[in-house]
This record gives sequence, structure tokens and C-alpha cells, in this order.
Amino acid sequence: MAKITVIGSASMDLVVTSSKRPDKGETVLGESFKTVPGGKGANQAVAAARLGAEVSMVGCVGDDAFGKAIINNFKENGVSTTNVEPVTGIESGTAHITLAEGDNSIIVVKGANDFVTPEFVKKAMDAIRDADIVLVQQEIPEETVEYVSEVCQEQGVPLLLNPAPARPISKDVMERAAYITPNELEASVLFENKDAQTALKEYPNKVFITEGKKGVRYYDGEKEILVPSYSVQAVDTTGAGDTFNAAFAVAIAEGKGLKDSVRFANRAASLSVTKFGAQGGMPKREEVEESL
Ligand code: RIB
Repeated sequence: MAKITVIGSASMDLVVTSSKRPDKGETVLGESFKTVPGGKGANQAVAAARLGAEVSMVGCVGDDAFGKAIINNFKENGVSTTNVEPVTGIESGTAHITLAEGDNSIIVVKGANDFVTPEFVKKAMDAIRDADIVLVQQEIPEETVEYVSEVCQEQGVPLLLNPAPARPISKDVMERAAYITPNELEASVLFENKDAQTALKEYPNKVFITEGKKGVRYYDGEKEILVPSYSVQAVDTTGAGDTFNAAFAVAIAEGKGLKDSVRFANRAASLSVTKFGAQGGMPKREEVEESL
């Protein structure tokens, strides 16, 4: 069984559906409001667990009702919460999501996720050392991502860095990560003055650009490869990237080749968008295998 440690955010998603996204200064009447577990780190942990990995989460929640619900959700999905702690006097992270016109827009308020500091991560060293692969994203402080990259390198544990949401990343962190998975927008921030082709060539078998409906692009050392995505009737695309990252990590940890790992992850991500909520459509292992 693949052992995966996810270091990152755990939040509550406050989701409004509306037929129209409001313009600046405009008020529109929405259709529904739901509260569901989210946060990129938590989503990746839950997705990996549903795909059969042994998952340990490293993160912080608030000492509020959302925090309790987030921890219960980890337990219900079989994710270890030994390294998930409530922070006294602080609210849980929240993501304010509008689903409108076939896509989402999200404002994240980090709350307790800002307390996932290097010192906090240090306490979870056993979970890092024991992992086949570590996943990290960018809803936690920048210095923590930097620190995680150093520790993973020291411990010889491969690191999958999902650079979401977008922010520039130091060359050192880029070098230390084993895999980096930006979407097109994030790639344009990471590789400011370069086109995707040049950037991919600089990082063979390391940078995987997720291009939504088109698929995932990387350079294998000789040529650029586009692994196409699967077309499905999308209900909610929130969490598709997280499902991709988790499934990719699971496949790599199980020893699949890169192209097969991307295919597996594309399939899992495509299934995830067929239901409401970031975690609502995340598939179980059998569903991915049957549909492949
Ligand atoms: O990647 C999707 C996630 O991003 C949502 O669940 C939301 O919490 C935001 O952080």
C-alpha cells in the first residue's frame, strides 16, 4: 500500500451556486448554498485515501465547529489525523466559492492554515520519513513549503509540489521537488518570461502542466507528451486538480511509469467533476480501474 503524507491546508468550502457571476457592484440572486469540506491539502489527502493509499495529513484547523467537522471528515475517509491540530482562538480556513456559468471562482481565507509553520511540520518528521511520497501545496506559508522541500531532500523522500494557488517559487525549491504540477495560469507565474515548451524542456519528467479539458503536458527528455484527459459531463470542477495530484502521487508511489500515472490521474480527475463539491466526486480505486 502506498504511504502518502500530505502537508497543507484543510478548510471548509462555503459554496454558492448561481446562474450568473455578479459584476463589480452588482447583486444577483443565487440558487443554493452548501458547506462542504475542502482545502487543497485536505482534498488531496482524501482523494489519495479513496484511491487506496495509507494517508497521513499534516495541518491545522481552527478551534471552531468547522475544525471539528474537518477532522471528522478525515476520520470518515480513513486519513490519519495524528498530525492535525486545532489552533486556540483561531478560525478554520474557509474557501468562498461561487459556482456560476460552468466554472468556479474562489477566495480563500487561510485562518488556521497559516499556522502550518516549519516548527509545526518538524513535529511530523516521522510521517515525512515514512512516506513513499510527500505532497505539498501553497495555501500554507511560503517558508513552510521551502522547509518541506529541504526536509524531503535530506530524507530522500520524493516531493510532489502542487504550486496552487499561484505564487513565484525559488529555483532551489524547484530543484528539490521531484514533481511540480502547475495549471496553465500557475505555469505562467512560475515561468514568467518563458513559453510552456521552453519551461517543460528545462524540467524533463518533472513539470507536468495540467491543461484542463486538453490533458496534461510534460517533456520526457526527448519529446513533449500530451496525455489527453477524458471527456465527461462536468457538474463541479472544484477539486479536480487535487484529485489529479493525489492520484498521480498514488500511482507514482505504487511504481507506475510516468505516462501511466498521468493517465490514471486524468481518469480519477475526470470522475471527480461529475458530482458536486471538491470531495463529493472523488472516486474510489475500483471506479477508476473499471473506467480505465
Ligand atoms: O482546489 C480546490 C480547493 O481550493 C477548494 O476545496 C477550496 O478549499 C480551495 O482551497
